[in-house]
Amino acid sequence: MRRLLRARLLVPAGVAAGVAAAGLLTFTPAAQAGTAPSGSSSSASSLHASTASASVAPTTSGAAGSASAKAAGINPVTLPSSYIAPGEALFAANCASCHGTDAVGTSRAPNLQGLGAGTIDFWVSTGRMPLADPTEQAVRKPPRFNALQTLEIAAYVQSFTPGVGVPIYHVNLSQANLAQGQSLFTLNCAACHTITGAGDALADGAFAPSLHVATPTQIIEAIRTGPGNMPHFSAGNITNAQARDIVAYVHEVIQHPTNRGGFGLGGNGPVAEGFVALLIGVGGLLLVAFWIGERA
Ligand code: HEC
Ligand code: HEC
Repeated sequence: MRRLLRARLLVPAGVAAGVAAAGLLTFTPAAQAGTAPSGSSSSASSLHASTASASVAPTTSGAAGSASAKAAGINPVTLPSSYIAPGEALFAANCASCHGTDAVGTSRAPNLQGLGAGTIDFWVSTGRMPLADPTEQAVRKPPRFNALQTLEIAAYVQSFTPGVGVPIYHVNLSQANLAQGQSLFTLNCAACHTITGAGDALADGAFAPSLHVATPTQIIEAIRTGPGNMPHFSAGNITNAQARDIVAYVHEVIQHPTNRGGFGLGGNGPVAEGFVALLIGVGGLLLVAFWIGERA
């Protein structure tokens, strides 16, 4: 009788332990925070989101003035010089007709030299360039180029003026202050993009677009470069730490306003969700196991 009881307890306990271990592995913050596995990035924008981190060759490094930037989690990315040659070919085929050879500009489109890789990356990764109709405000559309090609074009244009202009940044949001980001957003951005980031019409047929799709890298690039009718904010207006807080607010609050799973669970993210899944899942399994055991 005792042995029977022990066996009946051991089996469900083993099952529960296995499920708990699997659950913990699946729900560890590290697994959640990791960048998308490179093979699974189906859309170019998710590719773009992950390039700045590990998968592609560019490294964050000590470029000019980066010490404070680094401390604030805004890290300039150095593009390898091997990107320049393929970038030149892509530029010649897709951009030079308007922006001219060597990107110096033509009567159709502005000079790009000295704007920096970040400016090129913003316009190309958001699909604004290449432009179809030069008379209208460039709008976000599915990008023509993949993440690597975009970086190659940026490296080529940057090669004319090394170190000049806005670099491409990798943004680390782990130290960000969302409350600070919210008040800075309200102060500096909401007038045009609205408080919910939905975007709005501006004067003369221009409009401030929705902020619901831009990646953290694109958001910092927009802040620092000021595309089209948007003013640019230098580090004198908005410090790197403040920019990081704004990016975090846009990325984590504006872009994820509702709780996708149905319950917020205090907004604590995957850890809380993982524990609830564990409790409900393991609890349910235990009940089933005991029920089966009872009947056997
Ligand atoms: C059909 C002509 C055309 C083509 C092709 C084109 N552009 Fe442009 N580009 C423009 C015009 C016009 C503007 C100015 C638009 C504006 O300010 O809204 C512009 C603006 C830009 C800007 C912003 C410049 C600034 O001062 O902020 C960048 C960066 C840029 N283009 C990069 C590119 C790249 C890279 C390519 C190739 C992938 C490309 N463009 C292809 C016409 C073109
Ligand atoms: C004066 C109005 C104005 C203000 C203030 C402003 N923006 Fe913009 N923003 C614009 C306009 C206009 C565009 C579109 C530019 C274009 O494509 O020609 C834009 C584009 C953007 C984009 C690109 C969106 C996308 O998905 O392509 C981002 C991100 C952005 N702004 C973020 C910000 C942030 C963050 C702030 C505050 C620090 C801010 N903006 C302040 C007008 C503004």
